Amino acid sequence: MSASFDHPVYNYKVVRQFTVMTVVWGIVGMLVGVLIAAQLVWPILNFDLPWLHFGRLRPLHTNAVIFAFGGCALFASSLFVVQRTCQAPLISNKLAAFVFWGWQLIILLAAISLPMGWTSGKEYAELEWPIDILIAVVWVAYAILFFGTIMKRKTSHIYVANWFFGAFIITVAVLHIVNSLAVPVTLTKSYSVYAGAVDAMVQWWYGHNAVGFFLTAGFLGIMYYFVPKQAERPVYSYRLSIVHFWALIAIYIWAGPHHLHYTALPDWAQSLGMVMSLLLLAPSWGGMINGVMTLSGAWHKLRDDPILRFLIVSLSFYGMSTFEGPMMSIKTVNSLSHYTDWTIGHVHSGALGWVAMVSIGCMYHLIPIMFNRARMYSIRLINVHFWMSTIGTVLYIASMWVNGIIQGLMWRAYNSDNSLSYSFVQSVEASYPGYLVRFLGGAIFAAGMLLMAYNLWLTATRENHEDEPLKSEEGAQ
Ligand code: HEM
Ligand code: HEM
Repeated sequence: MSASFDHPVYNYKVVRQFTVMTVVWGIVGMLVGVLIAAQLVWPILNFDLPWLHFGRLRPLHTNAVIFAFGGCALFASSLFVVQRTCQAPLISNKLAAFVFWGWQLIILLAAISLPMGWTSGKEYAELEWPIDILIAVVWVAYAILFFGTIMKRKTSHIYVANWFFGAFIITVAVLHIVNSLAVPVTLTKSYSVYAGAVDAMVQWWYGHNAVGFFLTAGFLGIMYYFVPKQAERPVYSYRLSIVHFWALIAIYIWAGPHHLHYTALPDWAQSLGMVMSLLLLAPSWGGMINGVMTLSGAWHKLRDDPILRFLIVSLSFYGMSTFEGPMMSIKTVNSLSHYTDWTIGHVHSGALGWVAMVSIGCMYHLIPIMFNRARMYSIRLINVHFWMSTIGTVLYIASMWVNGIIQGLMWRAYNSDNSLSYSFVQSVEASYPGYLVRFLGGAIFAAGMLLMAYNLWLTATRENHEDEPLKSEEGAQ
């Protein structure tokens, strides 16, 4: 920890470490994403090697982007926000170091074990039991660090961002432990303690709430701190933020069955999942509106500040994906969208548009603070990065929507004699242009991350510079 910071008692070292690793794992995870996108266009890129096969690299991609990239962004931001808003340093620097190194070790083990094909087969919970135990230990350490700091706070109030981070930490612990319960057979193989429809329900209770609490609640914590900070405005409505919090966590936990429509799950459970998903639109949009309206009276800042643009555009994508999700949870809509690329488009409008863009905005806010600089080395590069991310996301999700609808319609087209109008292979052929566009969009998004790394490097290694005044500063004497 450097003594030159404003508040030398705060532990910024761990925040800095997680900040840098967010960028590193973002690049790695997205490049794997680009590779698997390319494999769907040019299958030769599977190289006939089991370790580089789509089936093994796909979980590597999801784990890397969600838990390594998204996870590091959440660790960095939550450990920063909790110290600042509680005006208290982390309760233990050793515990903080344990959380950082423990998490990096988990990522490393994932990067080795998934290409080896060691998997529990549960989506987003593929890692085998020894790694699962390590995750539980590191997560509990993180919980102690976070809640311990809250208990030692110098303020009477607990700022709303911490509520979202707190819900994310507690829920992910419960989800992970319950869903990962398994009987080990060898060091690299185990069987879930659940079976049949119960297994499916537990898995999607986990899977959906991984979306709700890992990919949503935690990032809403980021929104509630970094949007007001970057906009230099208070949250639009603090009361709405509290309603938003309770409504979101009360409803999210019930929506998992929408992943299991038309399966062996009891019909009433499917319908309950659908109704709860439709209700989820309200708190989701309440939160989005609260974030966007924080800019009231400061809209002009969007013109000059690409960091704010990252944050606000991420909220627009959040609004889009949380409108689309409830629609897809309607059983008749799901009968078209399920198994198609529409789901992949929905995932990435949330993942790229919301999760990645809000994280990137947050990191651009944090990096200068972490390296004791007035601001990022190049604002122009952030601007270029913003456009690359936006264009990349739009290309990705638009191509998947088109593919999804084409596939869904082709699969359900019948001839008058009740035979299928199209073979499956014909629908794959029809998807080819979409896969190419998705590859391009993904490659553009990932290239933007490389610009970010370069800008991070320049910010960290070069002294403050004034070669690029912000537009709002131009002309000011
Ligand atoms: C109101 C909010 C949301 C609702 C109701 C919702 C609903 C849905 C539905 C119905 C599906 C398709 C299930 C299927 O046919 O298999 C789905 C898939 C998915 N959604 Fe959402 N969604 C919401 C928001 C989000 C957000 C914000 C993200 C990401 C940040 C996200 C990530 C995902 C993922 C990763 C899947 C794919 C799961 C899988 O099959 O592997 N969702 N969602
Ligand atoms: C350069 C950016 C990215 C590219 C090119 C990319 C590409 C891909 C591809 C090709 C798939 C497999 C689709 C399939 O099986 O048909 C996929 C799946 C997935 N990706 Fe990405 N991705 C990117 C970024 C991200 C990010 C940032 C996240 C999360 C924060 C993410 C989360 C996911 C998830 C959850 C799935 C599984 C979806 C499902 O099972 O329904 N991706 N991605």
